[in-house]
Amino acid sequence: MDNRAIGVFDSGLGGLTAVKELHKILPNENIVYLGDTGRVPYGSRSRETIIKYAQQDIDFLIKKDIKMILAACGTVSSTLPREISSKLPVPYVDIVLPAAQEACAMSARGRIGVVGTNATLKSNAFGRAMRGIRSDIHVYGNPCPLLVHLVENGMIEPDNQITTLAVQMYLEPLIKEKIDTLILGCTHYPLLYETFNRILDYKVTLIDSGQCAAKAVRNTLLKNGMLSDRTEPGTTEYNVTDEIETFDKTASIFLGEPVTGAVNRIELL
Ligand code: DGL
Repeated sequence: MDNRAIGVFDSGLGGLTAVKELHKILPNENIVYLGDTGRVPYGSRSRETIIKYAQQDIDFLIKKDIKMILAACGTVSSTLPREISSKLPVPYVDIVLPAAQEACAMSARGRIGVVGTNATLKSNAFGRAMRGIRSDIHVYGNPCPLLVHLVENGMIEPDNQITTLAVQMYLEPLIKEKIDTLILGCTHYPLLYETFNRILDYKVTLIDSGQCAAKAVRNTLLKNGMLSDRTEPGTTEYNVTDEIETFDKTASIFLGEPVTGAVNRIELL
């Protein structure tokens, strides 16, 4: 049993889609969230910069005395080397392996698409993870650099013409490859779930990587005997590196519920 909080971080607010799932499946756990909103997006930056930022995010959470870390960011998950993540003093889960496992289990014909940021696609992390699970699969990737900006700007309605056009453009090459499963390899993309579904005519299984990662967090806590024994609902503390005035409004869209915990503006060193 361990009543310390689960630490969750993302480059911005996308990781809140994983927090939304954690609230559902682990309602009594405390959560400390860090969104590096002052430096989002990470996905168009160099590997060295992404690793440096991720280490600062992790250091911040470790100082908060968390019991495990969820990297709820596709870019960090696919870029941070195992030599770093495996040496952390607490268990570390990211979004790559849980989503890869789910996609391999769900895909009937083994034709799997991956969408995410430039850095995520360049790393080929999802492809490598899936080939390690299933040898008969074909992986087709396409980076979608505009989507994080559209989501962070609230352009998420399924009838938004600009977002629909952008998603259509990014999915075209994957549709041509006749994919049957698509990994949303960026935690911002579940906000565009309906847009993706409409363009894919509801014929492709969408894998929400944040949701899969939240389940992996529960499994890790269970396996290590680290679940909380709290009987009342847990609390969530939100930390961001940019202004907090509009945080509640935007964050509640990602969370699907109002923000109830403390919101702090912090500096990362
Ligand atoms: N949520 C991040 C990810 O999953 C956003 C992308 C970014 O920071 O570029 O990759």
